[in-house]
Amino acid sequence: MQKAIRQLTSLGLVESRPGVGTFVRAAPQPRPADLSWQTASLGAPQARLSVLSSTHRAAVPDAIALHSGYPSQDLLPGRLVRAALARASRSEVALARSPVAGLPDLQAWFAGQVAAGAPVGVTPPSARDVLVIAGSQSGLSSIFRALVGRGAPLLIESPTYWGALLAAEQAGVTLVPIPTGPDGPDPDDVERALSATGARAFYAQPSFANPTGTQWSPQTSRAVLDAVRAHGAFLVEDDWAHDLGIEADPQPLVRLDDDGHVIYLRSLTKSVSPALRVAAVIARGPARARILADRAAESMYVSGVLQAAALDVVTQPGWRSHLRVLRQNLRTRRDLLLDSLREHAPQVSVEHVPPGGLNLWVRLPDGTDSDQLVRECEVQRLLVAPGNEWFPAEPSGPYLRLNYSAAPAEQLSAAGEVLGRALRTVL
Ligand SMILES: Cc1ncc(COP(=O)(O)O)c(C=O)c1O
Repeated sequence: MQKAIRQLTSLGLVESRPGVGTFVRAAPQPRPADLSWQTASLGAPQARLSVLSSTHRAAVPDAIALHSGYPSQDLLPGRLVRAALARASRSEVALARSPVAGLPDLQAWFAGQVAAGAPVGVTPPSARDVLVIAGSQSGLSSIFRALVGRGAPLLIESPTYWGALLAAEQAGVTLVPIPTGPDGPDPDDVERALSATGARAFYAQPSFANPTGTQWSPQTSRAVLDAVRAHGAFLVEDDWAHDLGIEADPQPLVRLDDDGHVIYLRSLTKSVSPALRVAAVIARGPARARILADRAAESMYVSGVLQAAALDVVTQPGWRSHLRVLRQNLRTRRDLLLDSLREHAPQVSVEHVPPGGLNLWVRLPDGTDSDQLVRECEVQRLLVAPGNEWFPAEPSGPYLRLNYSAAPAEQLSAAGEVLGRALRTVL
């Protein structure tokens, strides 16, 4: 009995009052937390409040999820990843601190990927120019902080990846939007903006851009690189979808650069596994040193286990065959969604069929309130992302971004019907 009372007392369920007896404690009333002091203490935010994009909404059971930015698990090399993680956990790296710039073998692999496509006469980057980072999102923040800086102008494609907009805003840089079309941005616009603003960096996605899926033409690539060189500026090339080509292969501009104008980002998140969070920045000279210092201040180094596992996956013979199958699967899924839209949602148009990447950029009829449409779709159990989040300034029209890689094939075929119905409700 005494033992039981002692236990209940230690759990706070009963209390003993000496000389009176032992009583059941009243259940404490949870008090709503008063955090209003933080508002006074922090003041108004300098960056946008909606830190999380609608792409981060949790998936709803039974809903068709086309809103997220990631492929479904059956498009990942699951067997290779699990085996690689098991091997890494048994190896030396499981208990070691890795170098700040990354495991040398992984640095060499990333550098080799660029060197393999470099034309004769261009000196490719070396392993030393590679900084391994925990996902390219953190690289964007470091690059904007280290190479642009608070208040300074940054040229950026419009539309572009919402996470780059967020990183730029957090870094306090001033955005200079450059409209981009099916061949990429107009090099004259880039030239004019560099001259007018004195900007020293242009953030762009030349291959399979998120959200539009477009790939720059070779002429655009050369002309933009020339403009950047002429102005002593950097091209921050985000090659996020390097492994996600469908009809085309990526043509990274970094292959054409041997004097440090291109700061190159390559991520393995979408093609190896979102759980590994391994990416790289390739940069040369003082720019590399500044980015490295920023990374060291922020996170010191990337887990060696994750780096070793990522390297293991991409150096297995199965990796190349996985990429071949992935290409076919992406094509099938993209075309299923396209067909479904054409048949059931003729009100929308896809101005450009993406030759790679994970998304369709869908133009809605003029006057559509895309936020209202997103809500209506959600009621009808279809999750989509409103295009507004991809614009650095006012949206040039109403759009949706639809990810064709996250939902199973049969759901993609049904998605157009739901979207068509939702559009009829809101228009
Ligand atoms: C264009 C682009 N850049 C960077 C990222 C961030 O990728 P990571 O997962 O490597 O941080 C994403 C993620 O969706 C993206 O779409």
